Amino acid sequence: MNVLLIGSGGREHALAYKISSSPLLGKLFCAPGNPGTLELADNIELDVKNHKVVGEFCKNNAIQLVVIGPEAPLVDGLADSLRNAGILVVGPSKLAARLEGSKGFTKDLCAKYNIPTGAYQRFKNANDAKSYIEKKGAPIVIKADGLAAGKGVTVATTIKEALEAVDACFAGAFGKAGVEIVVEEFLDGEEASFFCLCDGKTAIPFGSAQDHKRVSDGDKGANTGGMGAYSPAPVMTEDMTKRVMNEIVEPTIRGMADLGCPFSGVLFVGLMITKKGPELIEFNVRFGDPECQVLMMRLKSDLLPVLYSLAKGNLENVELNWKTDKALTVVMAAKGYPEAPQRGSIISGIEKADKLPDVKVFHAGTALKDGKIIANGGRVLNVTATGKTVKEAQQKAYQAIKLIDWPEGFYRHDIGWRAIEREEAAKNRLIG
Ligand code: AMP
Ligand code: GLY
Repeated sequence: MNVLLIGSGGREHALAYKISSSPLLGKLFCAPGNPGTLELADNIELDVKNHKVVGEFCKNNAIQLVVIGPEAPLVDGLADSLRNAGILVVGPSKLAARLEGSKGFTKDLCAKYNIPTGAYQRFKNANDAKSYIEKKGAPIVIKADGLAAGKGVTVATTIKEALEAVDACFAGAFGKAGVEIVVEEFLDGEEASFFCLCDGKTAIPFGSAQDHKRVSDGDKGANTGGMGAYSPAPVMTEDMTKRVMNEIVEPTIRGMADLGCPFSGVLFVGLMITKKGPELIEFNVRFGDPECQVLMMRLKSDLLPVLYSLAKGNLENVELNWKTDKALTVVMAAKGYPEAPQRGSIISGIEKADKLPDVKVFHAGTALKDGKIIANGGRVLNVTATGKTVKEAQQKAYQAIKLIDWPEGFYRHDIGWRAIEREEAAKNRLIG
């Protein structure tokens, strides 16, 4: 089977790594890919905004499956255009991608189908939003409705901060994404990310992960796309998984079909586990980055036939096998990230790190220049490892990082701390 994978990040390198291990694979193309995918696939330049060009590439290269990694082409309707041209796609239609593309759409869906989430209201003007906030009090959460590259959410601890966030949104801080906002109840609990594969009718669990969004140790500093992650998330026990499937995922799949926009693709369920149980924070319509990297390290099953079944609408007979090992990834970012990462510095030692047992270094924002790997983005490498415990996976990942020579980069030193604390506490209980 020939496959076209769209995207250029660590998520796509991890997908390429897994897909390329399939005996069913013919040729793998990545558009545009990165120096990591180049070792596994043909990297090609394609204007993914030009759907006709992508369709023609697929026809000319006998592509049997297109896997769309990032959200932007999904919200832009690339999956619809390809399906209309008779090509099988992993990724939702434009209408189904509203689960990520419009926070207001998702909240309305939750209200209609009784899916647990924070109380909310949608607003198109600042005055109404402000009176609602004054009435509700802080803490409270302000969200730009549309895609804002992970930056459109303010968790306000004071009313003043909340009112400022409203003004910033309507003043255009997030462009078109902030023309409408959602004001939402603050949910208190532990966060977890949960993934499902969906074919429009059937949803199957695809594991859990926990990421670290803040840039500095101790979960401090600016919000980022994710500085590291581990899988599975300890809060996602078997019981909790069942509850999330019954209370959140299944009503969503039924609701979307009912609304005439069945969801086919990867559903990323952002959860807050509160005293009441699981509540939805947000959906994404694709794998998380760097969550995908840890999931791919733990998946034992061949991913390619699973994705093919998803695209064909045949998920009901699919079974997945997972390693019992834990996986953990540490993001190495360019100094200045997230505000102003410096590009162009040379990175060496990646190959040495990658050769360590149970370690895989995924490329995210790298480029090749004169035969050398250079930093070409904010999040640059994902140093990923597996182990019997999160602690063991963490030790292996940080040992691998020591072999990477990149003075212009930085990383967090405590990825996985919460899970490791739990592991230590459980061990002490056994000893005690
Ligand atoms: P998002 O961009 O939607 O992933 O939101 C960014 C982060 O804001 C989430 O990962 C949560 O930590 C936090 N957040 C979003 N909504 C809420 C909420 N209703 N209550 C508490 N925290 C929230
Ligand atoms: N790591 C969070 C995301 O992919 O949205």
